[in-house]
Amino acid sequence: MITLHFISADGRATEAQGKPGKSLMEAAVSAGIDGIAADCGGLLTCATCHVHVREPYASSLPPPDGEELGMLEFTAAPRSATSRLSCQITLTPALDGLTVELPATQY
Ligand code: FES
Repeated sequence: MITLHFISADGRATEAQGKPGKSLMEAAVSAGIDGIAADCGGLLTCATCHVHVREPYASSLPPPDGEELGMLEFTAAPRSATSRLSCQITLTPALDGLTVELPATQY
C-alpha cells in the first residue's frame, strides 16, 4: 500500500492508504477524504477532484496531458503551478508519501 497525506484548506492533515494502479482520487474517496468531490467518477469531465501536489512529488509526476490541462481551466479554486486532477494521478510505489493540499472548495 502507498501512504498518502491530504492537507485540508484549514491545515488539518489526514493520512490514507492507496493501492498501486488506483488513482489518487479513488484512494481519497475510499478513505472518505473531505474536499475531493469527484462528481464524474474519474471521467475527466468535472474538475472537482482538484489538488495541489507538494514537492518533490509534483515534479516527479508525468505531466498533465492535453485533456487534463483543459479541465484544469475549470477548477473552482484558483489553480497553482502544481495543480492536478487527482483522478489522473495513478498511484505507484514511487509515490509513497505523496502529499497534496486540498483547495478550499471544489464548486
Ligand atoms: S473526478 Fe471528475 S475530473 Fe477528476
